[in-house]
Amino acid sequence: MNLPIAIFSSILAIGSSAHPLEPAHGKRHVVANLRRSSFARRQGPAVKLQNGTQPVFDAATVHTEVQGLLTKYSMASDFLNGINLNPDTAQPDTDYYGPFNDTPIIQYFANSSKPSSLLKTPALRTRTGPAEGAEPILGLPNEPYASFELMPLKDDVAGGMDVAYYGALKFGTPGQELTVSVDTGSADLWVPVACPGCSHDQFDAGASSTYHNTGRRVSVTYGAGRVAGTVAADTVALGALSVDAQRFVAVRTESQDFMDYASSGLLGLAFRAISRMDAPTFFEGLLAGRKLAAGIFSTHLARGSADGNADGSQICFGCYDLTKTTGPVEWHNLTSKTYWTVGMDGVAVGKNRTAPLNLTAAIDTGSSLILVSDDVAQQFYSMIPGSQDASASYGSGFWTYPCSSSVTNSLVFSGRPYMIHKDDMNLGKLSDDSDDCVGGIIGVSSEYGLPANLAIIGDVFLKSWYVTFDYAGSRLGLAPSVNNR
Ligand SMILES: *[C@@H]1O[C@H](CO)[C@@H](O)[C@H](O)[C@H]1NC(C)=O
Ligand SMILES: *[C@@H]1O[C@H](CO)[C@@H](O)[C@H](O)[C@H]1NC(C)=O
Ligand SMILES: *[C@@H]1O[C@H](CO)[C@@H](O)[C@H](O)[C@H]1NC(C)=O
Ligand SMILES: *[C@@H]1O[C@H](CO)[C@@H](O)[C@H](O)[C@H]1NC(C)=O
Ligand SMILES: *[C@@H]1O[C@H](CO)[C@@H](O)[C@H](O)[C@H]1NC(C)=O
Repeated sequence: MNLPIAIFSSILAIGSSAHPLEPAHGKRHVVANLRRSSFARRQGPAVKLQNGTQPVFDAATVHTEVQGLLTKYSMASDFLNGINLNPDTAQPDTDYYGPFNDTPIIQYFANSSKPSSLLKTPALRTRTGPAEGAEPILGLPNEPYASFELMPLKDDVAGGMDVAYYGALKFGTPGQELTVSVDTGSADLWVPVACPGCSHDQFDAGASSTYHNTGRRVSVTYGAGRVAGTVAADTVALGALSVDAQRFVAVRTESQDFMDYASSGLLGLAFRAISRMDAPTFFEGLLAGRKLAAGIFSTHLARGSADGNADGSQICFGCYDLTKTTGPVEWHNLTSKTYWTVGMDGVAVGKNRTAPLNLTAAIDTGSSLILVSDDVAQQFYSMIPGSQDASASYGSGFWTYPCSSSVTNSLVFSGRPYMIHKDDMNLGKLSDDSDDCVGGIIGVSSEYGLPANLAIIGDVFLKSWYVTFDYAGSRLGLAPSVNNR
């Protein structure tokens, strides 16, 4: 099961090449092969904890993910230093919205009321009405029902991990439904259009009366690979919400990595400041058109790999779904509007925690893992009794800990610990008869060019928390998820 270190080194070499956006062809091929082999292994239901036992760590899938993240964040240092950004003035005016009004949430948990009484609160509405037992979803009073939408998500499970979450959007007139992975760590929307080598459903531009292609070439590098095409514009809709002339990349070529994914395209949900097209994101289009009840979207990511249920995840656009939470929301101010970044103080194990580390956390639904600097990873694992450096088997940055470990691992934001569910922390056993498991927090050597204070916070953490991305309020909300009940 161990990947030869030589192969791993060549994977990581891509992230550290002089031109990280243009990895050498031969090396990319290695990654593509790994990706395929990891997916080929995906057979039968994706159940992580089959009759009480744990799967064996799938090094190929994880290595591909790590390599991809190094590439995806290769410009993070520039962006977080304000270099090569699109002008901030391009962001939509959010005065219309203001920060999300969370008073009903506070009252709900202060009163420990039942949803039935919650529905009487004027600030709450439901799509089908309380009489039909609908879910309590918060928006603003006196807004039409069309001012928020739930996007159901499916979970792409591979190698015992939740590698991507994807939902459907409609493109063009009349609307053509295509699936897109949801990615808060990038800011471009793309789907394949007349893409000869693409293996998924494509957008049929000729069948849309509102399609326009600017002919401007653009390429975007992601965690999973690279796509290239031209900037196009058309109506893009989610249920009753739509944006006219939404810009997206009409992709003509995509790297093999994307062909293994379950979705056709990708929906970037970070800020226009880092868009490679220099265009507003779909969410920013909804904001600018004042289409939403609140200037937020909220994510609920279910634990498909552990529970074997690839459905049930969702994004609430313009709304907050109380039924996905078990406690009040706590807010953390954004430190930049590039990626969704917040300050992170460090990591904790049980009651022990690192001294304050002044990290920048990028909250990234498009990443399955948590990546921190080697130093932070070392500090973290040194607090877990029985943990061991696994770099000899898997390359620098990998650690194991006893599978039976009962300590609670947390990330610390604003001085408060936020736990990581043990099923998500655990990437699998070293081998069938091993008692050691590989941890989902992975260290990155400084030689790969990521800022030393950057922490990439992916689904290993985000499945434990209902996350509200408050664009208008410049903050991020964390509420305990029903996943942990
Ligand atoms: C797992 O299930 C199989 C049958 O499905 C059974 O034979 C085996 O003993 C079980 N293992 C454990 C550890 O429960
Ligand atoms: C309970 O909720 C109501 C609104 O439904 C609010 O007026 C009241 O202040 C709340 N009580 C407490 C103790 O928070
Ligand atoms: C967060 O930002 C708001 C608005 O700018 C400010 O009032 C508040 O003090 C900030 N909170 C913290 C903890 O910095
Ligand atoms: C934390 O880091 C930021 C830059 O990322 C810096 O501006 C700030 O001074 C640092 N704060 C402390 C207490 O070191
Ligand atoms: C916390 O730190 C103390 C002292 O350093 C140590 O004795 C204890 O085992 C640690 N607890 C955990 C859960 O690591």
